[in-house]
Amino acid sequence: MIKISPSLLSANFSCLADEIKRIERTADMLHLDVMDGHFVNNITFGPVVVSAIRDKSRLLFDVHLMITNPARIIPDFIKAGADIITIHAECCDELLPCIQMIRDAGIKAGISINPPTPLDTIVPLIREVDLLLIMSVNPGWSGQGFMQEVLPKIREAKGLIERDNPAAELEVDGGINLVTGKQAIEAGADILVAGSFVFNSPDPGKAIGDLKNLAAQR
Ligand code: DX5
Ligand code: ZN
Repeated sequence: MIKISPSLLSANFSCLADEIKRIERTADMLHLDVMDGHFVNNITFGPVVVSAIRDKSRLLFDVHLMITNPARIIPDFIKAGADIITIHAECCDELLPCIQMIRDAGIKAGISINPPTPLDTIVPLIREVDLLLIMSVNPGWSGQGFMQEVLPKIREAKGLIERDNPAAELEVDGGINLVTGKQAIEAGADILVAGSFVFNSPDPGKAIGDLKNLAAQR
């Protein structure tokens, strides 16, 4: 069963609690895009906001850190109520200590790679993580087009997970809609992140349902 993790980045930030209500019953997780203006040009929000919305949702908080040197702030996201924290392979040289810090807190750790980063980069880490997040856009903004050239990497990532860590989940993030969502599922995705497709829809609950139905059409 495919899981859907709507990205709050495409929601109306003046009323986050109401926006969460629109997806609460059908989503499996809530994807929280943290950007620091350094790892990516954009700046979004930090642990204060995650903590403020924690009691507005029963969904798993899927925190995607697009920040450099995450070690300094990971403890704050743990305290804020994250269930999964994903860091980027490109973010620092100390990936394993960050992953261990996350797992030692009893929550799940993920590793993510940008479109230009080869899968080889994370092969030595795949046994250490619970989730592999493949970016299908260059991170920074929602509403970008899915990069078709990432599809072979998603297939390769599925093979790597099956070989080295079958318990890990494969998440795909960026430009997901009914066409690209189907492609990502066929390539092996277990979790689809969708921002604009869900929150720009007049009925976000139905948009999530439509994405889930893609898996049934396989
Ligand atoms: C991009 C973020 C994504 C983004 C997805 O930097 O990591 O999670 O919000 O938004 P859509 O689905 O609109 O591409
Ligand atoms: Zn994201």
